[in-house]
This record gives sequence, structure tokens and C-alpha cells, in this order.
Amino acid sequence: MEIGSVGIIGAGLMGSGIAEVCARNGIRTLVTEAGTEQLAAGQRRVTASLERGRKTGKLSDEDVDRINGLLTFTPRLEDFAECDFCVEAIVEQLPAKVTLFERLDHIVSEKAILATNTSALPIIEIARATRRPDRVIGTHFFNPAPVMNLIEVVRSIATSDETLQDTRALGERLGKRIIVAQDRGGFIVNLLLIPFLTHAIRLYESGFATRDDIDEGMRLGCGHPMGPLQLLDYIGLDTAMFVCESLYEEYANSDFAPPPLLRRMVSAGYLGKKSGRGFYEY
Ligand SMILES: NC(=O)c1ccc[n+]([C@@H]2O[C@H](COP(=O)([O-])OP(=O)(O)OC[C@H]3O[C@@H](n4cnc5c(N)ncnc54)[C@H](O)[C@@H]3O)[C@@H](O)[C@H]2O)c1
Repeated sequence: MEIGSVGIIGAGLMGSGIAEVCARNGIRTLVTEAGTEQLAAGQRRVTASLERGRKTGKLSDEDVDRINGLLTFTPRLEDFAECDFCVEAIVEQLPAKVTLFERLDHIVSEKAILATNTSALPIIEIARATRRPDRVIGTHFFNPAPVMNLIEVVRSIATSDETLQDTRALGERLGKRIIVAQDRGGFIVNLLLIPFLTHAIRLYESGFATRDDIDEGMRLGCGHPMGPLQLLDYIGLDTAMFVCESLYEEYANSDFAPPPLLRRMVSAGYLGKKSGRGFYEY
């Protein structure tokens, strides 16, 4: 299927990055949010990122104008009627995603593909909210989407071969490497990553080691670009907690359970880099 325009729902950390990636690769891109304030914040995030590209010489003035010309920010989900491919990047909570997919299913054409950027939720639970479960798929981008070279494509038990092919083709058009995972909580990457992150929080919480020693240990000892506590701040502690919760529900394995400190930090509004404070201050 020829994908002419893409719709992005949710312009937080991930949605704003995914929108930028689509427009940078020449695709007409519509973006919507939960409200006008959040929409303006999402637009500012994209503008700031393009500005960084301009300053560092990665983008010319013409590039920035061309990219901006392909982006439309709208408060109306109804404007997505023309989109051939939608990517949902809203809060990591199943009821919110289900409600959105029910609505979206009635707005876009019956041929359109509906993708979710969920980190860990079952794709089939989202797909069954629509009348097109064969055209629903997971497209798990990584943070920050304009920089990270991977999309984990997640095929549910009902996703068609054609949907998988079209999604792979779009991902390649966006310049990303594609890996295909099964619809099991956490897919490939988070299934391996989340127990590592929860263990790091428990080490810190128990007083076993300091924040800086934990992070430095994994940076210098294992060659990770950042330590686990800093990575949690970049993911967003609320998002990390929701992912832990859904994996714990899926596997009933305590490795995935959100540690109490993570819950308390989220309650306090310490959400990591996006709120200015997490394990570190920004
Ligand atoms: N943060 C990460 O590192 C990361 C990486 C990969 C995937 N994800 C996944 O991407 C999704 C978004 O995560 P994020 O980090 O961008 O979160 P975020 O909190 O930065 O952004 C979520 C955005 O969705 C908006 N939103 C909520 N409900 C909405 C609705 N009904 N309609 C439109 N907009 C709505 C919110 O206003 C917010 O701006 C989640 O499913 C998350 O698990 C996150």
C-alpha cells in the first residue's frame, strides 16, 4: 500500500520524535494531542529539535522549512480521516489506548493501518477494540526517535502479512532497522531491559550502592552509553512504572514488579528528565 500521510496521536517524548522522523523523511504528517496546551508543547518539542539540527549543521534552513511544511498540528482527531497509517503514542495505559483505537477506527479509511508505540501492552487487546484487527500492529520506536535507529515491529495473532509488509516498508522508508517480535509483554527489548532497570532501582533503594556508582559501573564496566538510573530518567519514571505494571501482570514474576521507590517518585511528580527531576536533577 502506498502511504501518503501519517497521523501521530500523542506528541509527548515519543510522539513528537516520531512525527519529526516522518516529516524529515518527506511524509506528510498530522499530529494531535489530548488538548491544545499539550499540542502546543508537542509542537515546541519538534521545533526545538529541528533548531538543534539547524545549529549543529545537520539541517539546512531549507530542510527545516520543508519539514515544517509537511507537519500539521491539529486538535481534531477527525482530521486524521485522510491518514493511511496512524501511530499512537499516548500514555502507556490500556484503557486509554482502547478508547482511542475505537474512535480512530471510525475516523480513518478501512484500509488504513493503526499502529501503537506501546512498550509492553498486548497488541491484540488494542486491536480487538477495532473492526480491523488484521490492520493493527505494534511499532515500538526508541527514545529519542530521531536518533535511535530501531523499530521493533510487533505482530499480534491477528495481524495480516500485508500489514506487516507495509509497516516494514514504512519503517525502512524512515531509515530505521526493523526487528520483528511476537505479541508477548515487553516484546524483545523491554523483556530484557526492564528486569535490569528494576534491579538497579532495588540496589539503590536498599543502600547497597550509590546512584553514581551504579550508573558508572554499567557505563564503564559494560560499555553502556548511560547507566540504568539515568536511562530511567530519560524513559520517564511514569512510563517505566506503567511498563513494569503491565509486565508484572503478564508474567507474575517479581523481577518486573515496580519497586516501591519508583512508585513514590512517580507520586511525587519526579518523572525524570521531562519533569526536571528524577534520580538526577535537570
Ligand atoms: N519514553 C520512552 O522511552 C518510550 C520508548 C518507547 C515507547 N514508549 C511508549 O510511547 C508511548 C508514549 O510515551 P511517552 O514517553 O511519549 O509519554 P509522554 O508522557 O511523554 O507523552 C504522552 C502524551 O500523550 C498525550 N495523551 C494522553 N492521552 C491522550 C489522548 N487520548 N489523545 C491524545 N494524546 C494523549 C499526553 O498529553 C502526553 O503528551 C507510551 O505507550 C510508551 O510506553 C515510550
